[in-house]
Amino acid sequence: MSKVKVFRLAYVDFYSKNTDSMVEYYKNTMGYRISEEVDGVTYLSNALDHHNIVITPSDTKGIRRYGYQLDGNLSLEEVQEQLHVQGINSTIKVDIKPGISRLIELQDPAGNTLELFTEMEQTTVGFGTSGIVPHKLGHVAFYAKNYQNTIEFYRDALGFNFTDKIGEAFANFLSCNTDHHTLNIVASDETRLHHIAFQLKDASHQCASSDLLAKQGYPIIWGPSRHTAGHNIATYHHDPDQNVVELYTDMDILIPELGIFEPRPWHEELPLKPKVWESLSAWGTEFEVDLAKV
Ligand SMILES: [Fe+2]
Repeated sequence: MSKVKVFRLAYVDFYSKNTDSMVEYYKNTMGYRISEEVDGVTYLSNALDHHNIVITPSDTKGIRRYGYQLDGNLSLEEVQEQLHVQGINSTIKVDIKPGISRLIELQDPAGNTLELFTEMEQTTVGFGTSGIVPHKLGHVAFYAKNYQNTIEFYRDALGFNFTDKIGEAFANFLSCNTDHHTLNIVASDETRLHHIAFQLKDASHQCASSDLLAKQGYPIIWGPSRHTAGHNIATYHHDPDQNVVELYTDMDILIPELGIFEPRPWHEELPLKPKVWESLSAWGTEFEVDLAKV
């Protein structure tokens, strides 16, 4: 029988204390479109999925749910059974939200709530016509308590590949597809979001996005610079709830069959394999904001 395999991060559901500002930010700045509003919860789409961002009103900010899509080779019941064998409790939920009729709800060892699903409704809203309009939601980075168990959970229970580290504990990168990372797990004694990241088209899109952010009052707090781990050219800014948002392009592509990254002229060694990096910036640039402490 196939093993449980997640292949993409599909959505992030935010608790927000500034719901209107967050929805405006995703509409007017990020270029997302509203696909549905139910009971005060706003579902926003980047193009095709029913939702890629969910804004849920709350008296605090934070992450309510992360949504991951399964490869569909197993039924939800079979996925649940395999998780159960590994000592992981989960619940199958039916018709609890729009866009996804059946999903598995569970918690990772850090305490994040995850939703795993095989099918999501497709919308007709399409890509936005103004704003940044990223290609996709690419990855999340989160501070994690029980970070070693959390890394093992994503690798052993959900089928992620370990790619790189920065330092022995600071940043741990895992991929569930050919992107260098879908997850960046940062060792901590608390669990909370470090940043959420969206993929852009290319470097010109990176420049245009910084111009647009500046015009709309969202200053860049770090970057642009090329990272070491992943080699993505990245900028970071704050959304209206002060969550850190990364916009990136040019991320390394993993070849899981070979355990290497597709060669690029800027790679420090060939073939480039998963390794431990010591610094954040491949260009050696330093910024006032310490990304390790945002
Ligand atoms: Fe990132």
